[in-house]
Amino acid sequence: MHYGFDEIIDRKNDKYSFSFKWQIPYYVTKRVGVENLRDDLICLETADMDFRVAPEIIEDLHGLTDHGIFGYSELPDRYFEAVVDWYGRRQDWHFSKDDISYYPGTHKAIEELVKKYTKPNEGVIVLTPCYGYHGDVEGTGRKYIQVEMINDGYEYFTIDYDALEKACKDENNTAIIMCHPHNPTGRIFTHEELVRVGDICRKNNVLIISDEVHSDILRKGQSFEPMMKACGSEGLIACTAVNKTFNLAGLAMTNVIIQDDKLKQAGGDNMYSMPTPFGIQAVISAYTKGENWVNALNEYLDGSIDACLDYIHEHLPKAKVLRPEGGYSLNINFEDYGLSDEEVADKIYGKAGVIMNSGLFFDDKRKLQVHRACLSSPRSMCLEAFARIAKEFENC
Ligand SMILES: Cc1ncc(COP(=O)(O)O)c(C=O)c1O
Repeated sequence: MHYGFDEIIDRKNDKYSFSFKWQIPYYVTKRVGVENLRDDLICLETADMDFRVAPEIIEDLHGLTDHGIFGYSELPDRYFEAVVDWYGRRQDWHFSKDDISYYPGTHKAIEELVKKYTKPNEGVIVLTPCYGYHGDVEGTGRKYIQVEMINDGYEYFTIDYDALEKACKDENNTAIIMCHPHNPTGRIFTHEELVRVGDICRKNNVLIISDEVHSDILRKGQSFEPMMKACGSEGLIACTAVNKTFNLAGLAMTNVIIQDDKLKQAGGDNMYSMPTPFGIQAVISAYTKGENWVNALNEYLDGSIDACLDYIHEHLPKAKVLRPEGGYSLNINFEDYGLSDEEVADKIYGKAGVIMNSGLFFDDKRKLQVHRACLSSPRSMCLEAFARIAKEFENC
């Protein structure tokens, strides 16, 4: 079936689009120090997609709209069955209804889990570079403990076990936020990596919160193993969601999976018991009817990644960039052009008018030399973005 991923949908001016991604370029460019912007910006920033969601979901949401009552809502058994069935079928990961708690989005879930399971001033470990909001734990009164991953120099990252072990041995550090698949590096951790991290954390009583929101967006030839499946459920909490997979982030439906009875008891009741009827229906529809759409999406994303990598290799020969294992982002390192941070930012954001996530969002290392492009837009738009950037770097 043709899902129309090539269609360019106006998310800037359409009255039904309240897109965060397409409203924030001005904020982003300010952050990277670029003020004068062209009108025809291309936004490859923020991991949401410019694709219309699966028609099966839209049809069911029309049905709900026609029903016409949107009162306080509870999760029905059909909801839990859909979640359990999806992960059992797609990831051979088995849990039950009683292991699932709803939270209004993964970001919020992680914040609440950190508050529930750690104490003020304790340290929360994050492998960096990381999704910027994982670094937000300081907002909960906890300490943000960065364990840098090892970069081979070509943007391929692996875990520094010695540094991780050192951080875990510090008794003040009581939790780690894992990100698997890892944003922004695009790594999918192997079974061996997951088991080793699990062993180190358990030996030192460090709670693992595994953020797996990108686990259905896999590049060709890759497979994903949930951390709980790889190393058991003891001391481990997983966060899963339709938000990224089905482009439903605005409905903020996250499922937190806890199988460890001690953690369940320690966590008490979940205060978030009131999702919207639209969110509930979207999850049921996505997990019961959306599989073909996700498969087609992954194929389309592979095609876009191939096309953009080919283009970058040919027209931006000094840029270092790798094919991701999971997700749809490219981290593009411009440092071999030998330009200052300001010059790189001005060429990309100012002159080319392409908005990405700069390195500033992910760690404090490479700042404005590395930029993350989300290729979750029609392929023609992604290619135009790189054509504009290449033009700015052609004589450098
Ligand atoms: C790794 C990761 N976790 C969480 C989120 C936010 O998820 P949610 O929209 O469910 O809060 C993002 C968004 O980009 C992300 O990349």
